[in-house]
Amino acid sequence: MKQSRGVLLPPLDAGRVRRADLYGALRTAVLDGVLAPADRLPSTRCAAADYGVSRGLMEEVFAQLTEEGLFVRAVGRGTFIASEVAALQKPAHANGRPASSMRGLSRRGLAAAANAACREPDRPRAFNAGTADTSEFPWKIWCRLQLRATRELGREALSFADPRGLPELRAAIARYLAQFRGIRCTPGQVIVFSSAQQALNALALLLLQRGDTVWIEDPCYLGARAAFELSGAAAVPVAVDDEGLVVEAGIRRAPRARLAYVTPSNQYPTGAALSLERRIRLLRWAARHDAWIVEDDYDGEFRYAGQPLASLYSLDVRLRAIYLGTLNKSMFASLRLAYAVVPEELVELLANIRTQMDGFSPAVPQMAMAKFMEEGYFASHLRRMRAVYGAKRKALIDGLAPLAARGWNWSANPAGMHLLARHPDGGYVRKVGQASALDVTLLGRYRVAKARQDGLFLRFGALDPESIEAGVQKLVRAAGCTAVTRL
Ligand SMILES: Cc1ncc(COP(=O)(O)O)c(C=O)c1O
Repeated sequence: MKQSRGVLLPPLDAGRVRRADLYGALRTAVLDGVLAPADRLPSTRCAAADYGVSRGLMEEVFAQLTEEGLFVRAVGRGTFIASEVAALQKPAHANGRPASSMRGLSRRGLAAAANAACREPDRPRAFNAGTADTSEFPWKIWCRLQLRATRELGREALSFADPRGLPELRAAIARYLAQFRGIRCTPGQVIVFSSAQQALNALALLLLQRGDTVWIEDPCYLGARAAFELSGAAAVPVAVDDEGLVVEAGIRRAPRARLAYVTPSNQYPTGAALSLERRIRLLRWAARHDAWIVEDDYDGEFRYAGQPLASLYSLDVRLRAIYLGTLNKSMFASLRLAYAVVPEELVELLANIRTQMDGFSPAVPQMAMAKFMEEGYFASHLRRMRAVYGAKRKALIDGLAPLAARGWNWSANPAGMHLLARHPDGGYVRKVGQASALDVTLLGRYRVAKARQDGLFLRFGALDPESIEAGVQKLVRAAGCTAVTRL
């Protein structure tokens, strides 16, 4: 294998470079930890060319730093930073600034930064893992499609990509939505984002004025609430029951809201499905008041009995609904591809906003994803994963069965990668959560209105069956019940 050229050396101000400048810059870079032990330095010839000095001068500086023990030279292999310098290096703090730099931050920024709700835990454990299970992911097929995508795109893959999304992927998404989600839209209405979260941020910016009211579900997905609050809108919590958002309550509290955010297939976090009657009521209200509906169908693919529910979007004749889907859950978390279906006139505007956020999504994974969809792999993968998540959900519910006798309950909606186990006595719920020593989130964290009841939010998507089993046993013990032993 061709050896790399070595680390980049610290820059020096333009002008005549003297020996002392070179020596000082390299020594400081080592002591400040910019160059780390075992880093390989470029050859003196390359370094001399980079700094525009003679090779002899560079040799002198390397020799001095070697003599001082900061560099080590290995014959035939090159020059390295000595491992002993680790003991001399100063602890790094951001930009070398002391902690007092926390003083110059904005109130809005600090409020946003205080919300870590969208950060996933470092490692999956019971029950913090609502992300995709990748153990069954068809990795070989994906590698092959990525390679084909790279070859077909050629050097185009290295350039800017369309901020609306690759045409092939927009077309594949439109076809998939028509076939599997009953959504009729043109590829021109589909815009690709890196995540549903990014789509929410862009939509909040485009659709809302500062001070506008927005219905959010109570309890609500905290990422959505953060996106609306960041845009300066006022989030109005609207109660949720076993049929999802209580539309009448929203109409009573904020009849002239500009937007309603809903998770109709699988309310986050309660798991309720929005009833057909409420879907129609919500659409009627939006049409009457020219309000937007943002339908976040973040895991609509994962329904384990019967047909997927008709999306709000597919019932909407007045073009008030915007549909959001994410491939980061149905494929894998690091894919960073999601999409929104919007009226065609909004696509360019959203694309401009997208370019101000992070430009665009790289072409290669988009093209690979388009092929994955078009060649039927996505449909097979979803079928397989439906069985996998469905079995995990069943194991969790079977294991929790003894809790039902103690007044616990959970949604019967057979969907998703999480389950909310609720109990009317909030104090007891909190004790059980603590006693279990599991990584469970309390329902209260997602709720605005005060309530006596509480719940344990159990996210199982990425957990293996053994961790689910062990976790359930702990929960059941903590709740004061005896676990069912399976034969
Ligand atoms: C309700 C809801 N919407 C959106 C998302 C975010 O999806 P993405 O990872 O694509 O931002 C999540 C992730 O957990 C979610 O639960």
